[in-house]
Amino acid sequence: MAVRHFLTLHDLSPAELNQVIDSAIALKKAHRENTQQPVLAQKVLAMIFEKSSTRTRVSFEAGMAQLGGSALFLSPTDTQLGRGEPIEDSARVISRMTDIIMIRTFGHDKIETFAKHSAVPVINALTDSFHPCQLLADVQTYVEHRGSIQGKTVAWIGDGNNMCHSWINAAMQFDFKLRIACPVGYEPDATIVASAGDRVVLTNDPAQAVNDADLVTTDVFASMGQEAEQATRLEHFDGFQVNHALMAKAADKALFMHCLPAHRGEEVSAELLEDTSISVVWDEAENRLHAQKALMLFLLNQ
Ligand code: CP
Ligand code: NVA
Repeated sequence: MAVRHFLTLHDLSPAELNQVIDSAIALKKAHRENTQQPVLAQKVLAMIFEKSSTRTRVSFEAGMAQLGGSALFLSPTDTQLGRGEPIEDSARVISRMTDIIMIRTFGHDKIETFAKHSAVPVINALTDSFHPCQLLADVQTYVEHRGSIQGKTVAWIGDGNNMCHSWINAAMQFDFKLRIACPVGYEPDATIVASAGDRVVLTNDPAQAVNDADLVTTDVFASMGQEAEQATRLEHFDGFQVNHALMAKAADKALFMHCLPAHRGEEVSAELLEDTSISVVWDEAENRLHAQKALMLFLLNQ
């Protein structure tokens, strides 16, 4: 059987994605009840990080341990990857020694090349273009709080970045409407937007995007690798903060999500982030653990 990878949400069918979400919810219950069996005993996850991480590293490493397997943390500074060994060679070598590989890197083409030469499943743990693992956790969180996300309206406020692109893919795969509000010049990739057809609407007005939405979400104004643009972006993103005043325009019982790390006072107000009657950011973070366990079990056919 061909090796399955998870580079974007389009690598799984809608039915498979929903199966992963259901499995994540069940794994969370098993974890709480301490009934999880070590079904991945002797399996090894390689984790390649070319960018920083708290949630992704901890959730993959803890998740693998909870399933009975183990995880290796590999950074470019300590491996031959950082000294220029070709990605193709690294993929062939690492995938002969491990059972599943997770990569956080810059260009999306790098993970595609790696996957092409890997004998085992490769998971995208964030590239400049996509962050699909976060979306599994986010959809799980919505389902747990409000039921199915199908047919709902989600508002994305801020940068048309990797998270925004994965929300666009999620709108297609999980069948919901997405309204994106970005400052002029910070829109998501036009090809990705076009691929979603009329499910996705673009605006430059946050209030218009949030109007009657069931879920409002945002992310930092400057992503990893864009640190030098922080000051300019702060100016250009003026008016794009999600706060209680903006949330008041959303539907009753609308939720707020943020993949974290958050910059309080920039893309989100401190008050909203801490208001757990609206903000489900801590559940989102926790669900990375359960959603990725479900994903690894799916890719390893367990
Ligand atoms: N949301 C997320 O991926 O967080 P980390 O960068 O801490 O992994
Ligand atoms: N857009 C952010 C997400 C971090 C989890 C970044 O790429 O830095």
